[in-house]
Amino acid sequence: MAASSLLRLFSSSVLLLLLLISPSHSLRSSKPRSLVLPVRKDAWTSHYLTYIHQRTPSVPVKLVVDLGGSSLWVDCESNYVSSSYFPARCGSTQCLLANTTRCYSCTRVPGPGCNENSCNHILYNPISGVLTAGEVARDVVTLQSTDGFSPGPSTAFRSFAFICAPRDIYVLKNLAGGAKGIAGLGWAPLALPSQLGFHRKFALCLSPLTEENGVVIFGDGPYVSGTKLVYTPLITNSVNRMGPFFNVWEPSSDYYIGVTSIRINGKPVALNTSLLSIDKKGFGGTRISTVVPYTTLETSIYEAVTDAFLTEATSTGFIREAPVSPFEVCIRANVPGIGPDDHVPKLDLVLQSESVYWRFEHRNSMVTVGDSVLCLGMLDGGLKPETSIVIGGHQLEDNLLQFDLRGSKLGFSSLLSSAATCSSFNFTRSAAWH
Ligand SMILES: *[C@@H]1O[C@H](CO)[C@@H](O)[C@H](O)[C@H]1NC(C)=O
Ligand SMILES: *[C@@H]1O[C@H](CO)[C@@H](O)[C@H](O)[C@H]1NC(C)=O
Ligand SMILES: *[C@@H]1O[C@H](CO)[C@@H](O)[C@H](O)[C@H]1NC(C)=O
Repeated sequence: MAASSLLRLFSSSVLLLLLLISPSHSLRSSKPRSLVLPVRKDAWTSHYLTYIHQRTPSVPVKLVVDLGGSSLWVDCESNYVSSSYFPARCGSTQCLLANTTRCYSCTRVPGPGCNENSCNHILYNPISGVLTAGEVARDVVTLQSTDGFSPGPSTAFRSFAFICAPRDIYVLKNLAGGAKGIAGLGWAPLALPSQLGFHRKFALCLSPLTEENGVVIFGDGPYVSGTKLVYTPLITNSVNRMGPFFNVWEPSSDYYIGVTSIRINGKPVALNTSLLSIDKKGFGGTRISTVVPYTTLETSIYEAVTDAFLTEATSTGFIREAPVSPFEVCIRANVPGIGPDDHVPKLDLVLQSESVYWRFEHRNSMVTVGDSVLCLGMLDGGLKPETSIVIGGHQLEDNLLQFDLRGSKLGFSSLLSSAATCSSFNFTRSAAWH
């Protein structure tokens, strides 16, 4: 009896010891299946914010998510304290990744962003349109792993390359909520998907709620829902979005898809289809963006779509209402008992074939502006814009999008008709939102 209780005591202390040693919330060495970043919509700007843990000691750095952004860049000159910061020396792997041979000497006091014999690279603020250059560097970046439903232990990347934003009053201009840089998820060597690995596959699921988190999941999932994805090829643009304005002739890191027509209630809208492909100068086509809050359409496309939309709406029980800025096309149900939601004209972006289309559910196509008034949540992108159709945040919310860079394809699915939403991911075990 004594022996067995001793054994019990022994085994429970072994268990306790194992529990104490087991680093459930610290770094682990085995490679997780997926990594997760929480993403939250900023109520003022409608941009999407995330936190990345960087440096030694590790601190959360608030960043704006730029789906097509070509790098991670952060403000290096206000309180950047880290014992694991290393400038990328000329000719190093990081400089090659950054595709830069420009060497740079800094004459001020050395520190993050200012070192001898380091390389630099352009960085771009897509919100203010400011472009500048900063030191390429590496530091520790830590992300949480996930099983697809809730966050797990953290994984550290010891030499994560990024660009140090210089002291410049404009570079952080207009970034939401005091963000200190941009988390670029684009198709480029310095962007997060390429550096993190995980088959260069990631999922984006944005929540419309400003009090709940959506997610970016790097890796194969499983994701929040078992929803079936529909696939369309991802298209590259050989001209960067900064190119025409700043003479940056690197390939674009943005994600484009091949929209071939637009249908409203199943009826094709007459469009100048040459605007739907990307020309030699990089103009045209359809790009997906997390920094444009509402989809923008080139003027002739916008006019054709809004005309067709109004024709359908007014013949199916709606009346036109006065515009509510920034929207021009607003409607209200005319017939009592018509739930406006299910009856608003359905808008489809038709892709590689008639049977492959991205349908915007009414919560993605419309914006509720008042008592039963709904506005088409799309804006006039102007004549000769760089991109003919830019699919914006409102149209992406509560859609699961999977970007597969190796397979050059986008998987998409609306979650609005299922029980899951982009905020279904369980963050209760993760650090509080700051
Ligand atoms: C690297 O830079 C050169 C010259 O600036 C450019 O032609 C090339 O397309 C760039 N490659 C990548 C992968 O950005
Ligand atoms: C269609 O768009 C292209 C590209 O902007 C333009 O060159 C052409 O004139 C347009 N065609 C018509 C009929 O408007
Ligand atoms: C989220 O995770 C916590 C801790 O693991 C658990 O207690 C809670 O029930 C989970 N919530 C949901 C909605 O799954």
